[in-house]
Amino acid sequence: MPEADEEGKRYEVGQPQLAPGFYLKGSHQLDWGMKNRLARVFDPASGRTVMLAIDHGYFQGPTTGLERIDLSIVPLLPACDALFCTRGILRSVIPAQCTKPMVLRASGGPSILREELSDEQIAMDMEDAVRLNAAGVGIQVFIGGDFETRSIHNMTKLVDAGLRYGMPVMGVTAVGKNMVRNAKYFRLACRMIAELGAQYVKTYYVEEGFETVTASCPVPIVMAGGKKLPELDALTMAYNAVQEGAAGVDMGRNIFQSEAPTAMIAAVHAVVHKNLKPAQAFEVFKSLKSKG
Ligand code: R5P
Repeated sequence: MPEADEEGKRYEVGQPQLAPGFYLKGSHQLDWGMKNRLARVFDPASGRTVMLAIDHGYFQGPTTGLERIDLSIVPLLPACDALFCTRGILRSVIPAQCTKPMVLRASGGPSILREELSDEQIAMDMEDAVRLNAAGVGIQVFIGGDFETRSIHNMTKLVDAGLRYGMPVMGVTAVGKNMVRNAKYFRLACRMIAELGAQYVKTYYVEEGFETVTASCPVPIVMAGGKKLPELDALTMAYNAVQEGAAGVDMGRNIFQSEAPTAMIAAVHAVVHKNLKPAQAFEVFKSLKSKG
């Protein structure tokens, strides 16, 4: 085992990593099916995505805003680029005539009743993801958690299965209750997830040094929203994330817990795909909200 080395400092954030022949960082040497699935999630025009994350029930049950997905989320489907959900919700609630790409949560185990959430297992067969015409699968990776090695192993098994079927894997940096959320932690977690084979990574935004998290991760990063914030703050966070190198967002509570979710997802879309400044996007939000 090599001795631990110092973390590097030369991130060259102004010099984008090249992806000759394809528009997504780190994806240009993948196979056709994998690229095609990625192109369903990440808009080829902007290179970015607005994924709507509604998988929270897989460990915490009927989360605020997700009590009735048929009523609160189905009307939002036309406004997202992709939905991140469980296969249970997909089969039971999402209309099969919906042509939006579906990214399926593929890990699970402990509930919110347990102290340690990192004790997860793979919770879905890759064959089922193919059967469901998924555009990708997502899995938690608990770097620094009690079950770190297991969660990494879950992800690498899923990546191997994904490579067999051309199914991209989104590795999600799951931050334990007692872990520091800073750029140093996310650089480590995102880089490990990419090095071990995930085709893209979902992580949280940090105000200091987020551009070093995206620069040192060789595959696209999408930003998770986290706890509900005032709308302008959430739009500012999404704006900063994409300006600092994220390839979009996979946001949940800041959209479906907003007082006007349809207006909020439209404002997030403008920030992500049109580089609209937060204040302008907030005006879009207020104007759409007032129209009901
Ligand atoms: C991830 O682990 C969760 O299950 C959600 O997908 C993720 O946290 C994104 O949702 P939110 O924007 O509400 O944090």
